[in-house]
Amino acid sequence: MSATNSKTVRFSVAPGGQLRGRLRVPGDKSISHRSIMLGSLAEGETRVSGFLEGEDSLATLAAFKAMGVTIEGPEHGQVCIRGVGLHGLQAPSQALYLGNSGTSMRLMTGLLAGQAFDATLTGDASLSGRPMKRIVEPLTRMGAHIGTTDRGTAPLEIQGGATLTGIDYAMPVASAQVKSSVLLAGLYAGGRTCVTEPAPTRDHTERMLDGMGYPVQRDGNRVCLEGGHTLHGIAIDVPADISSAAFFLVGASIAPGSELVLEHVGMNPTRTGVIDILTQMGASIGIENRREVGGEPVADLHVRAAPLHGIDIPPELVPLAIDEFPVLFVAAACAEGRTVLTGAEELRVKESDRIQVMADGLATLGVNAQATPDGMIIEGGTMGAGRVDSHGDHRIAMAFAMAALRAQGPIGIDDCANVNTSFPGFVDLAARAGLHIDSD
Ligand code: S3P
Repeated sequence: MSATNSKTVRFSVAPGGQLRGRLRVPGDKSISHRSIMLGSLAEGETRVSGFLEGEDSLATLAAFKAMGVTIEGPEHGQVCIRGVGLHGLQAPSQALYLGNSGTSMRLMTGLLAGQAFDATLTGDASLSGRPMKRIVEPLTRMGAHIGTTDRGTAPLEIQGGATLTGIDYAMPVASAQVKSSVLLAGLYAGGRTCVTEPAPTRDHTERMLDGMGYPVQRDGNRVCLEGGHTLHGIAIDVPADISSAAFFLVGASIAPGSELVLEHVGMNPTRTGVIDILTQMGASIGIENRREVGGEPVADLHVRAAPLHGIDIPPELVPLAIDEFPVLFVAAACAEGRTVLTGAEELRVKESDRIQVMADGLATLGVNAQATPDGMIIEGGTMGAGRVDSHGDHRIAMAFAMAALRAQGPIGIDDCANVNTSFPGFVDLAARAGLHIDSD
């Protein structure tokens, strides 16, 4: 659906203005996906509040309903999942369509590799072009049978009835999706499954497994579990998504006179790279009211406009801010001096090639932005005006919307329907804060 509709939504954003007020952005996408997956595999009920009602997490929810799980909601972010236990899923009657959602596809492939039934996973044009060998290779080593296209892409055909054996896997890329996929297969494997990551990546899977009473051993960059234990349903309070808050952190930083409080934002240390990078660039972001909800740290973020300056982004922060680079490039374009990003080749295989698409769009707006194989070099300066293409990538669309706060004229953004994959209500929430977007 989104694939066919996506060309039809266009944003026109008026230049200038400022962002003010208190906002709560929608729930964390990564945690929302995992609440459905692990809640379905648990014994007993899992009650979720703050669930992200975006297309990606709704695709996961629909897939588990199609495998026989009773799920009530979402209604105002409340979801109730009646877990069927590790072995209670049923064969879906048709292929499971996962839209634009890489997290759904990569994590579900791991857990479907351990089922008794066959399943086929499909997605939209973007998802069907994204690399899946990175999960198929370790899962095959565990004993899974997974068919892909010749290019190693979806549709994925997962054969049921495989006998899985735990492996000790050193991941070549820092990817939470790969780590989670292997760990979810490990729930069904004989013996011990261990994953070692080259750099820390988001650990929501490990935290939620632990919260549901499943034994997980973590030691530095290595995580291990054994198959055959039981998950127990719990209550999950999903914090606001720091990746969605990031648009407003940048918008308020670059627009003079802005002052915003973003409430109840997830502050898991594997996700907070965007705050560290912006702070190094001179942003004013206060972290207030720190607390912990259901095993995940949260806080209110108080951001005020501040003059930004360019930096060399420390490579170790890249995996901790991996989804925030489109809007960080906008921050860099509005900063004084040069910003250099390296070590971020993963950005080329996200929902779009985020290095090329952002470099092209920034160039259209008159910014000196040079794409490199693994990053970007941006000279801060004046943001012009014009019409850019988001290539159906939600985060590119929202990043360019924020750029309008400093633009010399209106910014038109094509192909914006997929904003609904992660941030339903973006246009309305932005308007409440002071950024006016015409969406047609
Ligand atoms: C995610 C992991 C990241 C991120 C994606 C969500 C997750 O992908 O980009 O938006 O929920 O595990 P990689 O693990 O492939 O970097």
